[in-house]
Amino acid sequence: MRLGRSFSRRTVVLTLPESCWSSETLHRPSGRIAEQGGDAFYRGDLADRMVEDVRRHGGNWTREDLAAYGAVVREPVHGTYRGYEVLGASPPSAGGVVLIEMLNVLESADLSEPFDDAKVHLMVEAMRRAYYDRSRYLGDPDFLDMPVEELTSKEYARSLFTGIDLQKATASMGLHREEGGVKENMETTHFSIIDREGNAVANTFTLEDNFGSKAVVTGLGFLLNNEMHDFNINPDVPSHQGGFGGNPNLIGPGKRMLSSMSPTIVLREGRPFLITGSPGGRTITNTVLQVLIGMIDRGMSLRQAVDAARVSHNWLPDVIRYEAGRWNRSILANLQKRRHSLKDIEFLGDAHSIWIDPVSGLYHGEADFRRMGWAEGF
Ligand code: DON
Repeated sequence: MRLGRSFSRRTVVLTLPESCWSSETLHRPSGRIAEQGGDAFYRGDLADRMVEDVRRHGGNWTREDLAAYGAVVREPVHGTYRGYEVLGASPPSAGGVVLIEMLNVLESADLSEPFDDAKVHLMVEAMRRAYYDRSRYLGDPDFLDMPVEELTSKEYARSLFTGIDLQKATASMGLHREEGGVKENMETTHFSIIDREGNAVANTFTLEDNFGSKAVVTGLGFLLNNEMHDFNINPDVPSHQGGFGGNPNLIGPGKRMLSSMSPTIVLREGRPFLITGSPGGRTITNTVLQVLIGMIDRGMSLRQAVDAARVSHNWLPDVIRYEAGRWNRSILANLQKRRHSLKDIEFLGDAHSIWIDPVSGLYHGEADFRRMGWAEGF
């Protein structure tokens, strides 16, 4: 594979205290899983040791919980945007549905350059509405019937678009009368891959917070996540990330929590055109949206689309978070005149992406420099 650009490689080595692992065991779990498949992890002695360790530290896992769990392969959510096909993550991630809903709404708008405050306003209003639907409708498909087709339909998007006031911000509380909350946390990882045959992978991986639950199963060398945070504990209480979710994502036995992860592959004429995704909790889908708009609407190169200043609106809290120091002040002032509340944030997302030039077929890997990472070809 040839890359359009090359980047200096940055390596970070993380070490865990010796009490967390032993040389005899550290590399074994992955080898066992490779040889024996998922059963090696969810059943048998690896499972016993995880359960034992979690219980020793006050947790309440059981062997049955693990044995009943397994990865599920699901069909991607499918949409189109200005002639491109968009394949997105299906529930229990909200990513694909929310992204396609926003793109459908924005298809009615001209988002080409110059990308002024009127266009940011439209984008934010699409975010507000799609994230409101996220909190109203989305959760674990094994427990919920979700109106995915309706939410991703062009007709619904047109009705949302016509409800947007082109001059000023809609009050999120006007969409629904509930309360918002506090802040976001960011430690997920996304990478994009394509091989010489054109097989593409968009992979977003999350432990939720930095180092997940910060617990390593003694002797096994891997961290346990703390994804339980992604559930809504109480329909009247915002999540620790400041997002607000309704009953569809209420915590319950055996349920999978609602995610925002949005690994995305965009096809043009049936062939991979863009592979992207991002960390960033509930802001993830908005980052992916803006990479797509950069490439498809704003005539940007992938490098420019990844670098472009980002905003995020998640319905509640009713505020636009914008990347500090990256936005033109007059755009920000004009958004305030439109009655948007603004809050700066150091950065949003980390969208390591690949663009496949439809003419030359060349692969262009672009790292997002907001955090760390690099593009590389083998
Ligand atoms: O699946 C989700 O939406 C969250 N667990 C993602 C958390 C996240 O992105 C935090 N790091 N940036």
